[in-house]
Amino acid sequence: MTNISANTRLAGVIGWPIGHSKSPLIHNYWARKYQIDAAYGVFAVPPGRMPEAVRGLAALGLAGANITVPHKEAALVGADHPDALATRIGAANTLVVRPDGTIAATNTDVFGFIENLRQGAPDWQAAAGPALVVGAGGAARAVIVGLLDAGVGQILLTNRTLVRAEGLAAEFGPRMKVLEWSQRHAAVADANLIVNTTAAGMHGQPHLDLDLNAIQPAALVTDIVYTPLETPLLADARKRGVMTVDGLGMLLHQARPSFKAWFGILPDVDDHLRALVLAA
Ligand code: ATR
Repeated sequence: MTNISANTRLAGVIGWPIGHSKSPLIHNYWARKYQIDAAYGVFAVPPGRMPEAVRGLAALGLAGANITVPHKEAALVGADHPDALATRIGAANTLVVRPDGTIAATNTDVFGFIENLRQGAPDWQAAAGPALVVGAGGAARAVIVGLLDAGVGQILLTNRTLVRAEGLAAEFGPRMKVLEWSQRHAAVADANLIVNTTAAGMHGQPHLDLDLNAIQPAALVTDIVYTPLETPLLADARKRGVMTVDGLGMLLHQARPSFKAWFGILPDVDDHLRALVLAA
């Protein structure tokens, strides 16, 4: 644990509930590794109190904060300077207090998702074929923006509740193609990349019901769920000889630009950090 003094730069994660966040482990590890006099805590902020919490960051002299469920939309609204990316996604996961006390907002989930894919599967080519995205919640928005910006030609989007997928497709434009939930198994055959953005497959949740029988041998499968590290979807893909990328890296990589924005150094994801977070 850092020795906290009046000079220590402080940041933290804001959410509700927030008990299981791994972010303190990640950022405090980096503070030690790079010998930065910084510390990162946890702020349980109930729904409705985000406007006060956002203002409070500057009043308390914090460097900034990460924002998680359910406050990412409120963080965007409450910030003075939301950037274009966060605005496009409709959610902010990082707030930065500027020297004049105003609050900038950005979203590093896109970076986390794409960087994890690039490191886990360096041969993956965005333009090589359509991506099948399962789910249409908040996490899907960052994944879709990341894939569009990476140059994916077509996103096949499917969601249990069709209308949510249709809403995202209308928002994100002509490269989006909505498939009914019943079409998801057949769509597997067309996809060069398959992404689960739903909570299905997480400990305590049902498995994702997606039949990989028709999957292309050269396809790539990734999951934003990282508890367990190998979800049933990823295990199924691996048994078929298909390449997979787990979701832990997205969590670790999304933290990097936040740390840089507050403390000035873009940190690395190393094996020690992965092990530390896995063991927690
Ligand atoms: P988040 O912000 O984490 O993405 P969310 O906005 O609640 O959370 O969205 C959760 C997503 O997971 C939704 O796409 C949801 O489908 P619905 O829109 O039909 O609710 C999806 N989801 C959750 N559990 C699922 C399951 N067991 N099978 C399929 N989809 C599931």
